[in-house]
Formats: sequence, C-alpha cells, structure tokens
Amino acid sequence: MCGIVGYVGPQQALDVVIAGLRRLEYRGYDSAGVAVVSDSGIHTRKKAGKLVNLENELDFDPLPASHTGIGHTRWATHGAPNDVNAHPHVSEDGTIAVIHNGIIENFALLRDELIDRGVKLRSETDTEIVAHMLAAQMTESASLADGLRAVCQRLTGAFTLVVVHSETPDVVVAARRNSPLVVGRGEGENFLASDVSAFIAHTRHAIELGQDQIVEITPESVTVTDFFGQPVDVNEYEVTWDSAAAEKGGYDLFMLKEIAEQPKAIADTLLGRIDASGKVSLEDMNLSHGELKAIDKIIITACGTAYHAGMIAKYAIEHWTRVACEVELASEFRYRDPILDKNTLVISISQSGETMDTLMAMRYAREQGSKVLAICNTNGSTIPRESDAVIYTHAGPEVAVASTKAFLTQIVACYLFAMYLAQVRGTGYGESSSEIALELGRMSAKVDLVLDTSEAIRDLAIEIADARSILFIGRSVGFPVALEGALKLKELAYMHAEGFAAGELKHGPIALLEDGLPVFIVVPPQGDELHDKIVSNIQEVRARGAKTIVLAEEDDMSINEFASHIIRLPKCPDLLQPLVAVVPLQIFACEMATVKGYDVDQPRNLAKSVTVE
Ligand code: G6P
Repeated sequence: MCGIVGYVGPQQALDVVIAGLRRLEYRGYDSAGVAVVSDSGIHTRKKAGKLVNLENELDFDPLPASHTGIGHTRWATHGAPNDVNAHPHVSEDGTIAVIHNGIIENFALLRDELIDRGVKLRSETDTEIVAHMLAAQMTESASLADGLRAVCQRLTGAFTLVVVHSETPDVVVAARRNSPLVVGRGEGENFLASDVSAFIAHTRHAIELGQDQIVEITPESVTVTDFFGQPVDVNEYEVTWDSAAAEKGGYDLFMLKEIAEQPKAIADTLLGRIDASGKVSLEDMNLSHGELKAIDKIIITACGTAYHAGMIAKYAIEHWTRVACEVELASEFRYRDPILDKNTLVISISQSGETMDTLMAMRYAREQGSKVLAICNTNGSTIPRESDAVIYTHAGPEVAVASTKAFLTQIVACYLFAMYLAQVRGTGYGESSSEIALELGRMSAKVDLVLDTSEAIRDLAIEIADARSILFIGRSVGFPVALEGALKLKELAYMHAEGFAAGELKHGPIALLEDGLPVFIVVPPQGDELHDKIVSNIQEVRARGAKTIVLAEEDDMSINEFASHIIRLPKCPDLLQPLVAVVPLQIFACEMATVKGYDVDQPRNLAKSVTVE
C-alpha cells in the first residue's frame, strides 16, 4: 500500500527514484510524485494516475539536476486520488517535503491544531500535516532526524515517513512504525524503499528497520536510532535474488510470467525439506519438538488468497495430525475475542509479510501468550520478524497484484508443516506418510503439465466473455479452490463470480442457475469418497441449463457426458489436488481480463500489499 523510494548519491536522483517507483507500482497506482533537492531548494512534480502520467509530466516540465530525491506511488486512503492529494507534500515555507505510507490515526486532532495556528492546508491527506509540523519543529531541532523524531512522538497509527529538507541537500531521513521500510546500502550512495525490488538493480546489501526507528542516510552513511535518539542494532542481509527476477523476462504480463514460474516456485520451496525416504525436515523453523507436541489447537489467520491457502491447509493439518485447526480471516480474528492460550499455535500466512490485518492478528495472538508461526515469501518483512517461528516460501518476487505462485507455495509450506507436525507428534498419516511426501515432491512437474492447457483456456475465455456471472463449485479442498477461482475473476476481470461448496448448492445458490450460466466444477480424484457426489452435482447444474466447465483427472470418463468443457488435471493424491486444480482458474482469470482489455497486473482499486486496516 503506497510505494516509497529515497536516494542520495552521485547518480541523477530522479532516474533512480523513477526506476524504483516502477518496481513498486504494484503497491498502489492512484497517483505518483517525486521531490528532488538541489541548490535552489526542493522541487516536486506529482500527477494523478499511473506512473506514466508523472513521467509525461516530467518530460513536459523537467526537474533540475539533483543527487537527492524521494518518490511515492499512492494507494489513496485520505482524499481522492488527484494531483493535489498526490505525495510529496511540502511545508508552507517550502523547506520540507514528505512522503508517507500508512494512516495517521490522530490526524484530525493534529490538523485542527495546525488550522488554529493559521496553517493553510492544501490537500485532504493526513500526510500533509507532517510537512507543516516538521517545518515548525525545525526551529527547535538540531537536525532533520531530531525534528522527525519529535514529530513521530506525536503521531499514532501506521506510518513510514520519508523527508528531505532544503538546507541539508545530502540527507534523507525516514521513520518507521507498522509500515515497511528497508535501507539499501551502496558504495558512496544509499537508498530507502518499501521493498528491496526498488534498489536491487544498484545494491543487494539491505538493512531491516525495526519498529519505531529513524534512519538518516547520506551518500556515505546510514545511521539508525530509535524514536528517542538511542542507537540500535540493525540486521544487515544480502538479497539473494537478482533484478532479473523482478522483470517480465519476455512475458507480456507479470502475471503470465508468475503463473509459468509456479513449477520452479514449488520446487524451490521444497528444496532440502524432504529427503529421499520421504522424511520432512523443518528443523530450522524454530519451534522445538517439545513446543510442537504441546500444541492442542491451531488457528490460521490470513487475508485474500493467503486465506484460501489456509483453508486448504486446515484439511491437511486435521487429517494428518489430528490437531484441531480453525481458519479465520485476519480482519475478523482479533475483534471477536478468540480463545487462545500458550498451547495454541497461530499460523499467519502472508506473501508480503506486511498485510496490516494479518500483522495485527498475529500481534494479538502473541499478546495472549500463543506461539505464532509465519508462512511468508518476503525475507525480513515484519510478520516473520515478529513471529516465534517462520517457514519461508521461495516463490521469488511476486509483482502482479493478483497472487499466483505465492499461493501455490503457501499451500506447499502448509503441507510441509502438517507432515512435519505429524512426524514429530508420531500421529503419522497412515502407512502412506512418506509416499505422500514424495508425491508432494512430484507436484512441480504436474503443475508444469497443467500449464499446457493455456491455449484451450484462452479459447474458453473468448467464448464466455459476455457472461454476466460465473460460478465455481468444489468439495473438500476443491471448495477453497473454487473460492480462489472466483476471487481471481473478480480481481482481474471485474465480473460477478462466486465460489460455493458444491454440497451447499442445493441450499440456496442453485436458484442462481439459468440457461448458459458458466459453472466451473472441481472434481476430486476418482476413488475419493466425494467424487461420485460431485458428479451428481454436475448433473444437477447441467439439468438447469448451465454451462458446465469441469476440471477432472486425465482419465476420469465419468464426467464426459455432463460436461460442456473439460479441463484435464494430472493424477495426484486428493489433498494435493489444489496445486494443479487452481492453475487453470488463474489462467482463465488472466485471459478473461485480457479479452476484456483490462490491466491484468494492476487491477483497479487493488494493491498488492495492504498495509492499512
Ligand atoms: C491483497 C492482495 C491479495 C493478497 C492479500 C494478502 O489483498 O491484493 O492478492 O492475497 O492482499 O496479502 P499477503 O501479502 O498478506 O499474502
């Protein structure tokens, strides 16, 4: 939610900042803006809409050369996404420019104080008040860092703030509370950004910033202190992926590239975690055998696509470990007074590791004494850092706003955890435990096979592009797959789409069925006790004139006569089927959006990393 870049060093700051913003546009694209500091002061340009609008504006009205700059791409919270509300915001005297990610909760109170003092606010944003407060504070503070520290002590809510001052043109200062910020340490230059992708083309040396910390960068130095000015120890690390991983690599869309990367993402997430005999190894997760044996309940919290991964995980965890498992939307969890204690394990699933709802849920769980395990794709992000234990997924950078490869690796990580827990607790999961683990190892190749169905799915999208609504049904782990298929379609093709448990169809949704309505049906593997039941559901749907698009095993002929379209899936164990079944639905949503001419990688109103509640 909002992307932030700061640069100080010998390069042209504007070039570095714009390139960084391009990498961060997935975080928000309602407006974009930059500020550079030169000998003649602070200069800004900002424009509503995507980054390209700002770039056009800069061509038309260039900025002076400068070696210090900040930039912002916005997902609007306070105030409409127009030019005035775009960041940076500048103080009345023009000495300070500020960019911000997050929400300042006591904004109304602080704004009223400023108005009482005669300050004229130009925008409707919560951010602008920081520019005015900081400008006033600078009459008393010895440095920009000191001034920002004093201002931050008055703010509540979530914020990453990055500021520059016209009188210290070689300095950029930032503050972090609850919103992400990383430092890139270069040679004679330094960077600040919401995530490492913004500076990976320049340096792989990154520094994590903790809660309530201030960082000051100059070309030669990085100084981190807390909100009281005390120096703090920082965690410096090397980013392991290179900048090419965050490029389109020959694909037209990030989403197509990321869908195609799924076999590798699965293989990378499994690497070194299952041995040749099918034994799962997660010793580096940081939960002892004693702690794993003491668990008497598991609660999974997550949002969006990650929540669907959690729903799938519940089936595997309960089946393989016999430990009761609940799944809950993170935004609901902490507001309903959940029953938690030290024997409850809370699993937080998050691609970004920054989703505010998920972060707040895990903090709440830890306050209640529960252990928290993070399943996360982003090294060094807040959720894993604040968790007791972590399993990293190794999907690599996911840029398209709609999650694909991260989802598959979240499911894989949950399966690994469930198998490991069963192993440690000695519950086993039947005779087949090692065989299932070895089957999981084969899923990467099976997902690769499913990618070959892309062409037929494109034709299907063209055929049903005018549908008013599309339904998805499934049973057992096919139910969350149906929900995910519907979510993808809503996110990308802006269509009405609903996922249902197939067994619930008769309890209401069946009334929606009409002639020609497309219904996707996820059929479990043959031999599964639910297989025949869903074949009956297909017939019920078909009998009411709907168009049945059936996802079924490659040799499952029982569905042939009831299916308008068949999408074939490789054979795999029941619980692992989501890994192959969801892929055609991802491709379908992507193709449907393309047919309709929508922006697949940056759908309207969405952001990839939602750092507000
Ligand atoms: C946003 C994204 C979704 C994502 C959800 C959770 O809503 O648009 O694609 O599933 O956040 O994100 P997380 O980073 O926590 O997995």
